[in-house]
Amino acid sequence: MVYDKANKNALEHISFDIPKGDFAFLIGSTGAGKTTVTRLILREELATKGTIIVDGEDLSQIKKRQIPFYRRKIGIVFQDYKLLPYKSVFENVAFAMEVVGTPKRNIEHMVPQILSIVGLSDKAESLPSQLSGGEQQRVALARAMANNPPILIADEPTGNLDPATSYEIMDILERFNNLGTTVLVATHAKDVVDKMQKRVIELSDGKLIRDERNARYLRQSRGDK
Ligand SMILES: Nc1ncnc2c1ncn2[C@@H]1O[C@H](COP(=O)(O)OP(=O)(O)OP(=O)(O)O)[C@@H](O)[C@H]1O
Ligand SMILES: [Mg+2]
Repeated sequence: MVYDKANKNALEHISFDIPKGDFAFLIGSTGAGKTTVTRLILREELATKGTIIVDGEDLSQIKKRQIPFYRRKIGIVFQDYKLLPYKSVFENVAFAMEVVGTPKRNIEHMVPQILSIVGLSDKAESLPSQLSGGEQQRVALARAMANNPPILIADEPTGNLDPATSYEIMDILERFNNLGTTVLVATHAKDVVDKMQKRVIELSDGKLIRDERNARYLRQSRGDK
């Protein structure tokens, strides 16, 4: 993958397959290419070389006008939450469902359910500014999952959170994963990756240098516990 006008490859020779229902961390130091991978999967960028297939669809074959529909397959969460500041927690989640044409009756039924999964039932009427960072990220997660997409991508979801709150967010990601969602988390939060013991895909300077299951942030030497 080469960005326009950039003279170096942001990614090269990357190949991995994330099966349905998997939970994988995408790690690597700053500039390694994690966000570029997520942007490619979201079809915000088109790969300059190679093939990306998501849920059976070759992303280079999707027409521009189909992109918004393709993206409905993927819930996305960012480091900075990106909530609508003048809408309540309930309305932030409901809005994601309105824009895809969900009937009001269904929205009113489903928002409380999803808020309960993320543990925010008692904050439905709060504004984002009245919530802690961890709570705001939980709203962002609820919104990302509101339309029950098969895939959830989180780009540095705990970047602004303390360790305890980060683990809570990971618990929720795991809960959605247990409900069948395929999860990909780009992060450099070592402690979180170590605690979760999931698949680790490691990039360094645009190259894939490790793809390991039940792994920690740092490669363990053999025999090491
Ligand atoms: N829009 C862009 N145009 C040109 N180059 C870009 C663009 N976005 C990213 N890059 C470059 O691509 C490479 C990978 O960047 P990327 O944002 O994917 O890294 P990252 O692993 O997400 O880093 P971080 O941990 O800081 O978020 C870097 O060399 C970066 O400078
Ligand atoms: Mg990034």
